[in-house]
Amino acid sequence: MISKEYIRELKHKGNGAIIRFVNGTKENNTILYFLENLGYLPKDFDGSWLLNFLNNKNNQIRFWAVKNLGKLSDESYLSTLSEIAKKDSDTSVRREAVSSLGRMRNPKSKEYLFDLLNDEDPKVVCQAIRGLLVFRDDKNVQNVLKPLINHPNEMVKSVIYKEYFSETKTENEQPHPDSYDYLKNIVVNGDVREILKNVPDESIHLTFTSPPYYNARDYSIYPSYKDYLLFLNEVFKEVHRITKEGRFFILNTSPIIIPRVSRAHSSKRYSIPFDIHPYLIDMGWEFIDDIIWLKPEASVKNRNAGFLQHRKPLGYKPNAVTEYLMVYRKKTEKLLDWNIRQYDWSTVKESKVEDGYETTNVWKIDPTFDKVHSAVFPVELCKRVIKYYSFKGDLIFDPFAGSGTVGETAKNLNRYFFLTEKDEKYFNYMEQKIHHKSLFKEKETSFLTLEQFIKTKNI
Ligand SMILES: C[S@@+](CC[C@H](N)C(=O)[O-])C[C@H]1O[C@@H](n2cnc3c(N)ncnc32)[C@H](O)[C@@H]1O
Repeated sequence: MISKEYIRELKHKGNGAIIRFVNGTKENNTILYFLENLGYLPKDFDGSWLLNFLNNKNNQIRFWAVKNLGKLSDESYLSTLSEIAKKDSDTSVRREAVSSLGRMRNPKSKEYLFDLLNDEDPKVVCQAIRGLLVFRDDKNVQNVLKPLINHPNEMVKSVIYKEYFSETKTENEQPHPDSYDYLKNIVVNGDVREILKNVPDESIHLTFTSPPYYNARDYSIYPSYKDYLLFLNEVFKEVHRITKEGRFFILNTSPIIIPRVSRAHSSKRYSIPFDIHPYLIDMGWEFIDDIIWLKPEASVKNRNAGFLQHRKPLGYKPNAVTEYLMVYRKKTEKLLDWNIRQYDWSTVKESKVEDGYETTNVWKIDPTFDKVHSAVFPVELCKRVIKYYSFKGDLIFDPFAGSGTVGETAKNLNRYFFLTEKDEKYFNYMEQKIHHKSLFKEKETSFLTLEQFIKTKNI
């Protein structure tokens, strides 16, 4: 086997030595190692011997030959690279050929790259766009690229959007880690849709919520399933609006069963998580993760009794021991790193997640039963979400607060909370429960009607 030192020597000796070496080498591995380790090539390097490898049976050899051709500025290779980009049987070789065409940064490559914008492989199209963006000020390039905002592929669309259509946001006056005082440690009694009309854009850091179940409990009656989804759509659009750039929304849902009306009917199952997901994507949330909340079998309703007896296929009914935590991020061009950099060093340090955190997307947590509210979050579930998806001092929102578990936990973890709850019974329950437990001495919890909330906003 040859060494990197040997390759350096060959390059130093010049083309004659290289050609003698490649002509005299039969083993694919050695050729591949040689091509992979050729490293920097001066622009005037004679790469004509690389052309012999472009028809090699080995995909990797073709790939590396193409990559090395891309290091040269010899425009006589442009049409060869373009042919490979269109015709090679291996997708990674095709993609590398487009990328090599772009790397040459030669104005003559534009025509070849334009041609590749019609390719069926979206990655080829993206590489061609990247190559063309070297000439981003060229009017002709702009005229060809801008219409790709209507390209069917989302990756292509997103590259074009970022380049030509994303408005330069007027920087939000409020620094990213800050939030408005009138939203801190506040519980408002009313319909969340009315309340949120009084909350400015980009004012909260994290939302964790479990929406009312579709007609499965007495607090949730909707004329139809479609109406229910439209109601959630309305609320989550507002959640999106008030969420700060690049921050998270964690939605706890699960499919539900509406029991049968009589023995002559079947019960009906509604797949809420899957049905709400397209609405969330449409309104600008980016899907990040699905976390499964796994409960002990003994804690859930037993649906298995009939099947246990008869064992007849089709009548199988598993016990539903899971719920989803669907994790979304408000879509932005900015990376997570940008979000983290908005905080000072000590906040990041103090918010670090300690050892023993959950490493998988299956969270085994016992459910909690409550004497007043029939569907409360376990504190452990809230703890994990808040610790993993927010920093100390952040403002955490729950539009469907129920018994207020998200608020209580946020407070115990040195975050602020903002809760809304329609039902007066649960609102009063929260007031009794947490009124005297303020950890933020400087900011006690306030329990407000919608009218009172609007007044505090205007003070
Ligand atoms: C599944 S429970 C949430 C329980 C909560 N996660 C807890 O730990 O207690 C949903 C709550 O949403 C409330 N709700 C339903 N529609 C609402 C609306 N339009 N505005 C505000 N709250 C609403 C219900 O009264 C119910 O308490």
